[in-house]
Amino acid sequence: MEQEQTKRIVLGITGGIAAYKAAELLRLLMKQGIEVQVAMTEAACHFITPATMQGLSGKPVFAGQWEAGAANGMAHINLSRAADAIVIAPATADFIAKLAHGLADDLLSALCLARNCPLLVAPAMNREMWLNAATQRNIAQLLADGVRVLGPDSGVQACGEEGMGRMLEAEDLARDIAAFFQPKPFTGKKILITAGPTYEAIDAVRGITNRSSGKMGYAIAQAALELGAEVVLVSGPTALARPRGAQVVDVVSAAQMFGAVKQHAGDCDVFIGVAAVADYRVAQPSEQKIKKSSDALTLELLPNPDILAYVANLPDPPFCVGFAAESENLMEYAEQKRRAKKLPLLVGNLAQRAIGSDDNELVLFDGSGSHVLPRAGKLALARQLMQHITQRYEGAQK
Ligand code: PMT
Repeated sequence: MEQEQTKRIVLGITGGIAAYKAAELLRLLMKQGIEVQVAMTEAACHFITPATMQGLSGKPVFAGQWEAGAANGMAHINLSRAADAIVIAPATADFIAKLAHGLADDLLSALCLARNCPLLVAPAMNREMWLNAATQRNIAQLLADGVRVLGPDSGVQACGEEGMGRMLEAEDLARDIAAFFQPKPFTGKKILITAGPTYEAIDAVRGITNRSSGKMGYAIAQAALELGAEVVLVSGPTALARPRGAQVVDVVSAAQMFGAVKQHAGDCDVFIGVAAVADYRVAQPSEQKIKKSSDALTLELLPNPDILAYVANLPDPPFCVGFAAESENLMEYAEQKRRAKKLPLLVGNLAQRAIGSDDNELVLFDGSGSHVLPRAGKLALARQLMQHITQRYEGAQK
């Protein structure tokens, strides 16, 4: 795979309480190998000190228009020329207004105006300030000018009020910024993903399910979004936060999952079956809670339709990727499954290590053999897997 070039950003911090999150954002960006130069407004220095940001970034911080930081006195030009993007986090309502009107009365606004690279802003303000018609006009103007707006989020605010306007968490911002730099091979393409367990009712309160948490499937949905895809995530019951930007279809049983997949499979380009679908359902679930008795209870189970096999056998099928969780003989059973379902790619994992955990190890099986993706966090693995899927999908289109 190609060696990625180090990306450089200017992290601009403006004067809001969310400025404290900029320290964590800086750390996360650097962890991802992004070079960061910090520039702060005077107001930002009241919320977090340049010394903190200098200590974390290992570089002097630009905090004033008239400091002798640049030999030619043109920090506003030099900084933006050296950057692949400028990220303003937090971006206050005041700073957003400045950007919308092209004001340049301090270093940070001047370097935004003088930039020749993309600008990303992460708004952070009180909910009434966010909802104010002026702010909404300014945001619309920034979007029209091609500025990328990240967030805001909704929730409890520093002032105690609740609503829209919180800055996205540092982790979300770091992920969005890293995704911004990635190529977007799936722009205009639709990827359909199943995730999580299914639940097959026995009666009104009991059911048959499994320990799939949905983490692997949700991570793949996130990685697919980062590559520019339109993502439809058909999800069994999970407690996970939805990947921002994905269309999530909530289902409970395998029959419901099958119904949802059928609705979207016809026009999707890639299908990835990550869900641990129950192989059987109860023939006649009771509408009422079954009363306990001393007699043995026999349940008749009927096989569920195989969703992946259905999609793979459509007349004009999408590029299909299956998963297999095996508790033994992974190499043998997974390859058998790939052949039986006639899949171009099947991803094997050991059930006891994969289900419910935050990390995993994957083995990719295709017509030419197997390839191990060593143990890592599920999002990191999902990103690697999506790179493999991209290559194979593009190969299959030729
Ligand atoms: O959710 P996590 O806790 O993160 O765990 C992730 C995982 C272990 C569930 C995931 O990585 C995984 O391996 N999923 C597949 C589970 C499995 O073993 O599936 P299977 O062998 O029963 O089915 C093989 C393939 O057919 C899978 O792609 C499955 O989605 C699909 N299938 C199976 C049965 C069925 N009725 N319909 C299907 O589409």
